[in-house]
Amino acid sequence: MAEFKLKINGKDQTVDVDPTTPLLWVLRDHLNLVGTKFGCGIAQCGACTVHFNGNAVRSCQLPISAAANNEITTIEGLSENGTHPVQKAWLEHDVPQCGYCQAGQIMSATALLKSNPNPTDKDIEIAMNGNICRCGTYTRIKAAIKTAAKTQQS
Ligand code: FES
Ligand code: FES
Repeated sequence: MAEFKLKINGKDQTVDVDPTTPLLWVLRDHLNLVGTKFGCGIAQCGACTVHFNGNAVRSCQLPISAAANNEITTIEGLSENGTHPVQKAWLEHDVPQCGYCQAGQIMSATALLKSNPNPTDKDIEIAMNGNICRCGTYTRIKAAIKTAAKTQQS
């Protein structure tokens, strides 16, 4: 066990865990940030996506020793009350079905729009390629990203 200092959603946190513990489990089991989901545990599904210094990463693959002292944002920290343009676009397009993959989808989409405010269909397909949706909401995800891109630019 070791003590790690984290900055999560703008808040300083300290946890005492094994250094190899994936960030995903620190978020869910130690900090009660359960919006980030466990899907596969092997970087294949994207359900556990969070922002690491602004970039989308798979938190199931990021040991706490590497995450410490960096800026982490989870779905809970994206906005107060779900008001981020991407979250609003998700509502407008009624994107989720079962919802399980959606926090990861939204975190990947927000990271994409930060680095590329006006993505083409191809850009969206490439950026969202690692986020699997078993309910097949891909068409609505793409439409919502386009709406969010327009909103952010206006
Ligand atoms: S749980 Fe991390 S990519 Fe699937
Ligand atoms: S909405 Fe069900 S897995 Fe994506």
